[in-house]
Amino acid sequence: MRIKKLVLNGFRSYGHVEITPSAGLNLLYGANAAGKTNVLEAVFLCALGRSHRTVRDQEMIGHGLSGAYVGLELETLNGSRTIEIKLRSGDDASRNPRDKKQIFIDRQRAEKAGELMGVMNVVMFSPEDLALVKASPDVRRRFMDMELCQLRPAYYKKAAMYNAALRQRNALIKEAFLDPIDPEVLDMWNQQLARTGAAVMRDRRQFMDDISTIASDMHMKLTGGRERLFAYYEPNVDFDDDAEYAIYDALAASREEDIRRGFTTRGPHRDDIGIKLGDTDVKVYGSQGQQRTAALSLKLSELALIREVVGESPVLLLDDVLSELDDSRQRALMESAVDCQCLLTATGVESAVTGRSASLFEVAGGEVRPV
Ligand SMILES: Nc1ncnc2c1ncn2[C@@H]1O[C@H](COP(=O)(O)OP(=O)(O)OP(=O)(O)O)[C@@H](O)[C@H]1O
Ligand SMILES: [Mg+2]
Repeated sequence: MRIKKLVLNGFRSYGHVEITPSAGLNLLYGANAAGKTNVLEAVFLCALGRSHRTVRDQEMIGHGLSGAYVGLELETLNGSRTIEIKLRSGDDASRNPRDKKQIFIDRQRAEKAGELMGVMNVVMFSPEDLALVKASPDVRRRFMDMELCQLRPAYYKKAAMYNAALRQRNALIKEAFLDPIDPEVLDMWNQQLARTGAAVMRDRRQFMDDISTIASDMHMKLTGGRERLFAYYEPNVDFDDDAEYAIYDALAASREEDIRRGFTTRGPHRDDIGIKLGDTDVKVYGSQGQQRTAALSLKLSELALIREVVGESPVLLLDDVLSELDDSRQRALMESAVDCQCLLTATGVESAVTGRSASLFEVAGGEVRPV
């Protein structure tokens, strides 16, 4: 799939801007703070309904403005689509919180952010993603979640239901020192968490099984066959067939500890991904270079998996990553990108686009100009 046109209005540092990227490689270059990442963030927002770098939607509204608009025209195998997001500032939308972020798909207002999942697929790759392996588990959980939302749009709702139940159980547990917990109420939340959590864990296991082989092949390629990568799901609660029962059991067993610590200590909200090279845990023992290469393998596998499952290449967003990689890894990355539309940012034109023809856009003075 490809973006035909992107329109920003009052988004971050931009006034009104229209960008028409080409089908292949598009290089957005400009000085630091010129607004390059802001453009990729706007695209990501249209794909997943949220920013890749903040949980506060309001931050994306230009300073002093009452709202922001991002509109995108997309060409897919199933025809043309449009996605539009309108953000309203807090004061302006205080009447109804639902109006703070309005999503329109093909000009129709979407009731829920979940409807957006799968309309446009993107793979975002930024310097923070290179830290995927050494970062804390929540970063790797987010990696699984982002991918699953795109690969299986129903996952978004499953995760949201689990998180809602988790918030309720945590609230109940926090109050336990004031008010003894009604065992029946706690049991009801345990059941709820077990049911919704099992759906999340099953999807995550399937996803990790799917991506593991691809990542292993990719890593072989990146290291010239020297290293064997093994990435696998590390659920917080072990399960075979009956994930629901396993979670329910774990919750019942951790009741005292949960009350003592004031939160739910067991469940998929504490899952992780295990990453090994041969028998060695890369998270603990890997060199910086090994960790970054493993991260690159996982991200490139994500691209391949989406292509395979969705039947169409996602839009690739590369934010400032080429400068962070050596020549052979840069080449591998660009080779993976050959048949997809790619928006790539860099501070300069030199060396960034290793020998491929690219459409150039200069980002400066609040404008994105084709050159
Ligand atoms: N809500 C906002 N309103 C107005 N300007 C904003 C807002 N949020 C961020 N900015 C501005 O946007 C600019 C940063 O843009 P961006 O992160 O896209 O830069 P960049 O070109 O990616 O820079 P770098 O090369 O350093 O990564 C900063 O000047 C910042 O002040
Ligand atoms: Mg940037």
